[in-house]
Amino acid sequence: MAWTRSIVAALLVVSNTLAVQAECPSRIPKRPEIKPWPYNTGTPMPHSPVRETGRVCYVRESKNKEDDAAPNILQAFQQCNHGGTIVFDKTYWIASPLDLTFLSHIDIVITGEIHFDDSDVYYWNDNSFKYRFQNQSVFWKIGGEDINIYGDLTNDKSLIDGHGQVYWEEIETNRALLRPMLLSLDGAHGLTMSNIRMRNPPHWFNIIANSTDVLISNMDLEAKSLNGVEIANSDGWDTYRSSRVVIQDSVIFNTDDCVSFKPNSTDVVIQNLVCDGSHGISVGSLGQYVNVTDIVENLYVFNISMSNASDGARIKVWPGAYTDFQEHLVGGGGLGWVRNVTYDTFYHHNNDRAITITQCYGQSNRTLCNEFPANLTIEDITMRNFWGQVSSKLDPQAGTLVCSASDRCGNIRVENLTVTVPSGKSPVYECSHVDAALLNMTCIEPTDERDTEQGR
Ligand SMILES: *[C@@H]1O[C@H](CO)[C@@H](O)[C@H](O)[C@H]1NC(C)=O
Ligand SMILES: *[C@@H]1O[C@H](CO)[C@@H](O)[C@H](O)[C@H]1NC(C)=O
Ligand SMILES: *[C@@H]1O[C@H](CO)[C@@H](O)[C@H](O)[C@H]1NC(C)=O
Ligand SMILES: *[C@@H]1O[C@H](CO)[C@@H](O)[C@H](O)[C@H]1NC(C)=O
Ligand SMILES: *[C@@H]1O[C@H](CO)[C@@H](O)[C@H](O)[C@H]1NC(C)=O
Ligand SMILES: *[C@@H]1O[C@H](CO)[C@@H](O)[C@H](O)[C@H]1NC(C)=O
Ligand SMILES: *[C@@H]1O[C@H](CO)[C@@H](O)[C@H](O)[C@H]1NC(C)=O
Ligand SMILES: *[C@@H]1O[C@H](CO)[C@@H](O)[C@H](O)[C@H]1NC(C)=O
Ligand SMILES: *[C@@H]1O[C@H](CO)[C@@H](O)[C@H](O)[C@H]1NC(C)=O
Ligand SMILES: *[C@@H]1O[C@H](CO)[C@@H](O)[C@H](O)[C@H]1NC(C)=O
Ligand SMILES: *[C@@H]1O[C@H](CO)[C@@H](O)[C@H](O)[C@H]1NC(C)=O
Repeated sequence: MAWTRSIVAALLVVSNTLAVQAECPSRIPKRPEIKPWPYNTGTPMPHSPVRETGRVCYVRESKNKEDDAAPNILQAFQQCNHGGTIVFDKTYWIASPLDLTFLSHIDIVITGEIHFDDSDVYYWNDNSFKYRFQNQSVFWKIGGEDINIYGDLTNDKSLIDGHGQVYWEEIETNRALLRPMLLSLDGAHGLTMSNIRMRNPPHWFNIIANSTDVLISNMDLEAKSLNGVEIANSDGWDTYRSSRVVIQDSVIFNTDDCVSFKPNSTDVVIQNLVCDGSHGISVGSLGQYVNVTDIVENLYVFNISMSNASDGARIKVWPGAYTDFQEHLVGGGGLGWVRNVTYDTFYHHNNDRAITITQCYGQSNRTLCNEFPANLTIEDITMRNFWGQVSSKLDPQAGTLVCSASDRCGNIRVENLTVTVPSGKSPVYECSHVDAALLNMTCIEPTDERDTEQGR
């Protein structure tokens, strides 16, 4: 009867605050026991003690869309931080930015619905949290130590909804609109997040930044346009300046990277994901900024089922010289390395390329790419146990492995690759400055790059 006790306790807590509600507190689901499986980062997640039963804050619901829940949410976190539990079991509309990076030893239960107010996209353009990194912005950020965020996917709620539709429509006419990401985990050390639905981010779904020991599991992500307007970006997760991250057992329907490893992502495991419509599980893009060192190493990507994507396993690095790729997307000449990355067990269905490795990102002219080779090296890469069939788009080509000079790439291996092409022809791959003896595939000379995505 632990939950009865916590309800009684919750009623005691609620009696002296406006932030929380007294009517019908719901049963709190138990914190799920999630473990990294089958792979892990080599370091166990820090121990997370059970929360105090006497400290449960039920956040007061929004009366209507105009009733901003943010002040009540902040008050609840201040009250139940350091050992308590926050419960979102009703419907909440958030209409102002929320900085929740001061947390410690707290559980956050989301069995209700969290919506971000979409009545004025320019309010968020002006008031979202801004990041220098890729000019990003976000509605709210969560950080601190020993945090568990969880919902219950057996109910039809447990929802975080960014209402991206209006932003996707607005950028058709104003590309400069800053569209918030749905969630930033920023400066989180020892955090789990599981069993939550995330819907329709104006920009990316999630960034995991400045963080260590993060485990994400059993998530359900979907970006869906109501009227055919293009869904811009919608990356599932981007990792940045973070170490020891596991993302597993989740389903992602989107239109950009399913998972993307941005600068300084190390010791990351991605496993048992189903991705549909994406741009792949992508390292990069890296090397965009002169004199900046980007490091991505020790990644294990296991058991991915990917459909309807532009790319599957992907590593993208800018060349050594400045490149004018697209409006708001220029760069090249950065330093660093991508090292010790394994993609193991990867099912392909209707993806344009099974494998994409490029050190000419943004530079479709191969001559120019090779003239100024990348300063960011790619080494110790293994891709193994890939099967399924790519799309007809590039048939009989099934992928591309293009380095800008042979001393900038090393030990790139492909093993047990049985991906087919729809025509039934023998699949071919573009290869340049890679050691063909380690590939066991049919290589052809690359043509100029046919990459027209609105990439990042
Ligand atoms: C960031 O925004 C500024 C001003 O709009 C622009 O000049 C710059 O290219 C942008 N940078 C990136 C990485 O998008
Ligand atoms: C990461 O931490 C730095 C400070 O060390 C901060 O400036 C930045 O906003 C944080 N988040 C991101 C996404 O860069
Ligand atoms: C990444 O790490 C390198 C080496 O420590 C450092 O020079 C660089 O500034 C870091 N980059 C970011 C974006 O933090
Ligand atoms: C691979 O992931 C799928 C879920 O997409 C899961 O059903 C299956 O058990 C996993 N296989 C292994 C070997 O872990
Ligand atoms: C990069 O560093 C070099 C050497 O310190 C310096 O001369 C150059 O101005 C820097 N370039 C940029 C774009 O910061
Ligand atoms: C390479 O990465 C794997 C995780 O994918 C890790 O277990 C291994 O220790 C790393 N190897 C080196 C030499 O760092
Ligand atoms: C891929 O796209 C097709 C057509 O758009 C769709 O029917 C299918 O459900 C998608 N996903 C999979 C797994 O095939
Ligand atoms: C690529 O660049 C080279 C060197 O500047 C130039 O001669 C060639 O015409 C370019 N190719 C295309 C297709 O633009
Ligand atoms: C980066 O690469 C360019 C062209 O390949 C080269 O001219 C330059 O010296 C390199 N810079 C560094 C710091 O290695
Ligand atoms: C090759 O990959 C397939 C999946 O496509 C897997 O079932 C098989 O066990 C692998 N073979 C070896 C020898 O690892
Ligand atoms: C190369 O791949 C073929 C099938 O695609 C396989 O039969 C052969 O054993 C592989 N060779 C090596 C050296 O791995």
